[in-house]
Amino acid sequence: MSSIIKVSSPSNIALIKYMGKKNHELNVPSNSSLSWTIDHLRTYVEVKALSNKETDRWAPLESQQDISLSESSVARYLNFWKKLKSKLGVEGNFLVSSGNNFPFGCGLASSASSFSALTLAAHELSCKQGQKPLNEHQLALLSAQGSGSSCRSLLEGWVKWSEQGVQQVSFPFDNLIHKVIVVESGEKKISSSQAHKMISSSLLNVQRQARANQRLEDLCQVLQKGDWKRAYEICWSEFWDMHALFETSEPSFGYMTALTMKALNSLRLFWQNNGDGPLITMDAGPNVHMLFREDQNKLCDDILANCLEGFSVL
Ligand code: DP6
Repeated sequence: MSSIIKVSSPSNIALIKYMGKKNHELNVPSNSSLSWTIDHLRTYVEVKALSNKETDRWAPLESQQDISLSESSVARYLNFWKKLKSKLGVEGNFLVSSGNNFPFGCGLASSASSFSALTLAAHELSCKQGQKPLNEHQLALLSAQGSGSSCRSLLEGWVKWSEQGVQQVSFPFDNLIHKVIVVESGEKKISSSQAHKMISSSLLNVQRQARANQRLEDLCQVLQKGDWKRAYEICWSEFWDMHALFETSEPSFGYMTALTMKALNSLRLFWQNNGDGPLITMDAGPNVHMLFREDQNKLCDDILANCLEGFSVL
């Protein structure tokens, strides 16, 4: 059986968070979001044709790092594959294999890279079968229906997802260096999809849309002006805002651990002492993400050696 399609797609990290949905079936976000695409952390997907008697199935891609998807995650992935096939007019049944080039469960948004890679694979297959190609903006919106954050992975660099769609934006900061402090690597108890639902019980959620949209506007403005410190402050408030939603939901839930707090405090102290540092953010998990400017190589080494010693950083 030969491979007919091979694609890959990167992960991304949001600085203004997609948290809360207007429509949970179609993943219509309550607020706009902004991310940086992490080009080197990728999901690879290979698709092989099966006979008509067989049904679509999933397998881990052997050439990549070990991946163990739960039964429900495999079902979600294959359901979206079926939806993609039907929307893109793909005929036939397939073996879909996927794998990441980064460790599974290390707190990286693997649903962003895996769902965007699946969308690309289905699209390539549909073009091969003679269907009309979609542009990357249309593809991104399609991918969002599988997992919202995946739509931002289909474009490079800074990406904004708003009511206007998914668009690339440019700021005077390029080639950012991404590092994640891996505090805990197990599978999280509350998935992002569940979190999107649960936060509707928080009183803080009432004004969340306005706060996130305001921060997005402010962040774009200060990045445009080159004000990195102010950008750090906005990103810091933003991830705390999202985690406050989690903690004030009823029932409440949370992801931060004592080690998360230790890392965050060390990083804040570094910023206070040096007047410079990385942008810091967190997803719906305990791990801490850092984005350094390309001229901050030395500062990055300094932080890893002196401020985060003992932490595992990827
Ligand atoms: C905290 O895209 O994983 O990472 O649409 O239900 O699949 P679904 O949710 P998902 O949510 C991501 C939430 C986040 C913030 C972000 O990436 O913007």
